[in-house]
Amino acid sequence: MENDTLTITDNRTNKTYTIPIANGAVRALDLRQIKTGPDDFGLMTYDPAFMNTASCHSAITYLDGDAGILRYRGYPIEQLAEHCTFLEVAFLLLNGELPTQEELEKWNQAVMQRTMIHENVKKFMDGFHHDAHPMGILISTVAALSTFYPDARILSNPLCNRKQIVRLIGKMPTLAACAYRHRLGLPYVYPDPSLSYTKNYMNMLWRRTEPTYVANEVLARALEVLFILHADHEQNCSTSTMRAVGSSNADPFVTTAAAIAALSGPLHGGANEEVLRMLDEIGAIENIPNYIAEVKAGHRKLMGFGHRVYKNYDPRARIIKRVAEEVFEVTGRNPKIDIALELEKIALNDDYFIKRKLYPNVDFYSGIIYQAMGFTPDQFTVLFGIPRTVGWLAQWQELLQDPERKIARPRQIYVGQEVRDFVPITRRAQVEMAAV
Ligand code: SDX
Repeated sequence: MENDTLTITDNRTNKTYTIPIANGAVRALDLRQIKTGPDDFGLMTYDPAFMNTASCHSAITYLDGDAGILRYRGYPIEQLAEHCTFLEVAFLLLNGELPTQEELEKWNQAVMQRTMIHENVKKFMDGFHHDAHPMGILISTVAALSTFYPDARILSNPLCNRKQIVRLIGKMPTLAACAYRHRLGLPYVYPDPSLSYTKNYMNMLWRRTEPTYVANEVLARALEVLFILHADHEQNCSTSTMRAVGSSNADPFVTTAAAIAALSGPLHGGANEEVLRMLDEIGAIENIPNYIAEVKAGHRKLMGFGHRVYKNYDPRARIIKRVAEEVFEVTGRNPKIDIALELEKIALNDDYFIKRKLYPNVDFYSGIIYQAMGFTPDQFTVLFGIPRTVGWLAQWQELLQDPERKIARPRQIYVGQEVRDFVPITRRAQVEMAAV
């Protein structure tokens, strides 16, 4: 529209400014011209946690939080989960289009050929305590991979960047499986590139002494769908971390390690592990009302509920609920699903949650499936991080290609002390401090 502008009157000076609107946003820098005088820095926006701030233009994932819509490169997540393999979706996220049969075969081969890790990584892995949390192992070993691939620091060559992307996608399941086996005191299982991405992951997790691992088809498909659902989700906390660290030209291995660290937080990817702890604490359906009362009193959060963007049912949670029933056909029903279903039913009819538009998110049901498949809760966020590596790398690749790319460096509003002179130690007052 020709009048895509904002007219702002600064009542401090009675000056009027016309600010252009593009894609439903104004550029924060356009506000800097609004000053009270020549020494004034100019107007900034203040947006802690970036509740209403777009950090980039992106063509990868589209969310409509009110309508509960999620699309990868324009394709509805429901259709991708129904028809694709995970590596097919990975190709789509990275290249913008679904692959042809020939492209998919080449892509599968390229990734599966990069599943081995240097033997020294295993020595590094062996240094962890037997009960080390696998997310701590994953963050450390992914960062350590940067020391094995110094060419990863050459960000000016797209082919070199693509090689690192394939390395990370290929090696993430291997590192995750080693962390899982390390925890159990089991020998590491080498990748089998003749298997699919998910079946090879299952092979490295669960193969014992059989010469070739044969994955259960239903569980393998369930893992494919769960990986597809977790692959990307626009500018969430860990992806924003990937972009911020990547903007300093750090190599993709240490940048991905930073994103994994962000994902490990219980408010983000760590929520799936917390959901299981919450369901264990509730223990039985009759205890749900008391737990809900605790939540409404502000003493607890309903883990797996709520979302910064979705103010409707997370479309991924709906698909995961269906996958759960298919998995239980094979593994037997996880009794926690009944507590979760009752919890959801009660919460969705309670004004506290309705008023705050709190619905189940991707983490509410995923852990129940993972537990039924044999994973321990501390592995759940690792299962989030493996597929999300594709989304982080697609977003990192888009960042490198962004003509507006600059190092991320937000401003602040200083609310501290004014200038003051040094005080000798003999004249200082005691500062009330928490005991260390
Ligand atoms: C993921 O961003 C993404 O896209 C993330 C993700 C992805 O794919 O990358 O979708 C994955 O991280 C999903 C979210 C997993 N986290 C959880 O399930 C943890 C529980 N959820 C909450 O901590 C919370 O809902 C967040 C962190 C997810 C969102 O927090 P917001 O947007 O900052 O919302 P808020 O904390 O401002 O909450 C608004 C109100 C508050 O109440 P009032 O102060 O208005 O009275 O809702 C309440 C909150 O107390 N609230 C909850 C709640 N979540 C929000 N109350 C109880 N239980 C909850 N889970």
